[in-house]
Amino acid sequence: MNTLYSISLFLHSWNRWLILVAGIIVITSAIRGLSAKSVYTDFQRKWALVFLSSLHLQLLVGILLYFVLSPLTLQALSNFGAAMHDPVMRFFAVEHSFTNLIAIILAQSGSILVKRATDARVKNKRTLIWNGIALLLILAMIPMGMMGLARPLFRF
Ligand code: HEM
Repeated sequence: MNTLYSISLFLHSWNRWLILVAGIIVITSAIRGLSAKSVYTDFQRKWALVFLSSLHLQLLVGILLYFVLSPLTLQALSNFGAAMHDPVMRFFAVEHSFTNLIAIILAQSGSILVKRATDARVKNKRTLIWNGIALLLILAMIPMGMMGLARPLFRF
């Protein structure tokens, strides 16, 4: 396997854990903030930034894999019609990449809207809705066994 491909796949695989951990912290602290009617804390702002930054990194490496390094998507791009009949190629070339791209756009839009809000309740509500939907989409599209597609949970 080409070294840059292995490094990118390794990074893309491990960064998924940072995304999931940060996403769960962001969601649970927004729920806590809403139920306790508390202020939007610095802790929340920092973890929201970690979540969004890890998503940006994932998108960057994902694009590199998609257009340059992954034999799966390169083959799909060379004959998209045929790739649609292959469940693994279709998953990575369409379902995984596009659904996750939408999730990242939702998290980014949410972040802008949270910054614009001044009221803590509105900030927490927006955090919960936008990042909650993003996280659900991401969870649905991680190749962890559904659609017959399993990739290592911990890639070495
Ligand atoms: C939050 C978003 C994302 C998460 C959590 C995620 C997670 C993953 C995981 C766990 C794998 C399997 C890695 C392995 O085999 O160890 C994978 C593969 C892949 N991802 Fe993503 N991904 C995300 C977004 C994207 C995006 C936006 C793109 C494209 C623009 C993309 C393109 C790919 C490609 C092409 C592969 C397959 C590479 C190969 O096996 O050759 N991913 N992704």
